[in-house]
Amino acid sequence: MTPPQFTECDLKRREFLCFMGISGLALAGITGCSQYRPNGSALPFSPLEPMNADEFMLAKGFNYKILVSEQADLGNGLKFGCNNDFISYLPIKNRAYEGYLWVNHEYYTRLFVTGFNSRYSDLKPTKKQVDHELYQVGGSILHVKKNKSGHWEYLKGSAKNQRITGHTQIPLIADRPIVNSTVAMGTLANCAGGQTPWGTFLTCEENYDNFYGEVEFKNGQRQMKSPTAQDASWRQYYNNPPEHYGWVVEVDPVNKTQKKLTALGRFAHESATVHSLPDGRVVVYSGDDKANECIYKFISDRPNSLDQGELFVANTEKGEWVSLSWKKNLLLQKNFKDQTEVLIRCREAAKLVGGTPQDRPEDIEIHPETGHVYVTLTNNKAKGNFHGSIVKFEPQNNDHASDRYTFKTFLAGGEENGFSCPDNLAFDRKGNLWMACDISPNALGKAPYNSFKNNSLFYIPMSGSDAGRVFRVASGPVESELTGLCFAPDGESLFLSVQHPGEASKDMNSLTSHWPMGGNATPQSSVVCIQGPALKKLLS
Ligand code: FEO
Ligand code: CA
Ligand code: CA
Ligand code: CA
Repeated sequence: MTPPQFTECDLKRREFLCFMGISGLALAGITGCSQYRPNGSALPFSPLEPMNADEFMLAKGFNYKILVSEQADLGNGLKFGCNNDFISYLPIKNRAYEGYLWVNHEYYTRLFVTGFNSRYSDLKPTKKQVDHELYQVGGSILHVKKNKSGHWEYLKGSAKNQRITGHTQIPLIADRPIVNSTVAMGTLANCAGGQTPWGTFLTCEENYDNFYGEVEFKNGQRQMKSPTAQDASWRQYYNNPPEHYGWVVEVDPVNKTQKKLTALGRFAHESATVHSLPDGRVVVYSGDDKANECIYKFISDRPNSLDQGELFVANTEKGEWVSLSWKKNLLLQKNFKDQTEVLIRCREAAKLVGGTPQDRPEDIEIHPETGHVYVTLTNNKAKGNFHGSIVKFEPQNNDHASDRYTFKTFLAGGEENGFSCPDNLAFDRKGNLWMACDISPNALGKAPYNSFKNNSLFYIPMSGSDAGRVFRVASGPVESELTGLCFAPDGESLFLSVQHPGEASKDMNSLTSHWPMGGNATPQSSVVCIQGPALKKLLS
């Protein structure tokens, strides 16, 4: 790996300005990154303007090919699922040009899968239709290879291709059965994730309550919360307990096994970002993507396993990680019967010990050189935070096992900085930051989001004269979100999910997007692979 060129000093002034809510661009009399033009020396491309075309647009110097789209035939009776999100690459036998590509299938759009929109129709899906919907969620493992012309493709029919769905039986790794079971039916709401040093993928169950609902505990009594239209439609055929969802799931692509890791807590897990400690144990950072929920850190008890360990919640006002160990905390012992109950009711436990409510924590990435932990806070509209921010933790003495840190704002969203609602992050091999934003489809094009237009992918240099500036690289089709950024190890390819184009379509006669096929076609979420001379230059 080429050493990153990042220096903390480069960012000091910008951090201060952004913390104060003032961007360097605004001070320079420049209103928004789209109007900023680099001086020619720093960037090998001209950033895109905001746009609302029903296209996947890239700045000049980049190009792309579609790797796989919804319902693509993977061979052996397998089909690619819906609404692809997190992507992670694991080399096969250390080859940079052949690997397993994990892809999350976060949810599905009933209109495109079953043929009606529950928001505008009283129709209820049949069991056969629900079974088909269950197949659309979870994840895919693709056997991918770079071909002789330098493009990535998946090998249709390879025995390494796999599907994990809403039907897959997955063990619950816990101290005791959960709602009378040690196995859960399926994984769902798989948003972002991570990868372990021992060659497994981590996939995170985020908005699980949309599928089998949620429970609440009043005076110690467990009861179902009122169902939404969507979760009621699955529950009429499969009465699965909500407590079987909301976990981080570990997937072994070689042995073809999966397990739900309850020790990391149960909440709307956005991501699971892994850092190895010098003694071989690992730290996993994860955010709870719900307004006023928290950021967590898990430290494993031993190397090569996340089955057991200690979970902490961030008190960012005090700069402390607070333990959620039932054994260590009398307050937790008073309110919960055991550690498993603390983990199931993690949100309640976190608030009890002083976890700080955040503005919807989304993705988490660790800078490869500084070790600082960057977290996107996408927004908190009820609190008047419409554009979100990127914050960072600086662990004390750069020790990720420490319970102390400094907490700072790195970049504020808004018109001055040219982005809103940050979601996914990735550091490239040079230590520069890439970010994809997620303005929700029904908010796009409306105040206060008008000027941002379609959701986009941005490049943020971390050093040099452009440090901390935000440059638009790609613009997604109508109502899509760009997500799941994953750099291939070849130094010239970036996998990216184009998720939910046309999601706000009311019915099949009024589709709002036809990407990628065009014409009158139904829109399809797809994984694209970005390449091109500009990307190669940025990564070399
Ligand atoms: Fe699935 Fe929080 O994004
Ligand atoms: Ca996300
Ligand atoms: Ca990421
Ligand atoms: Ca999001």
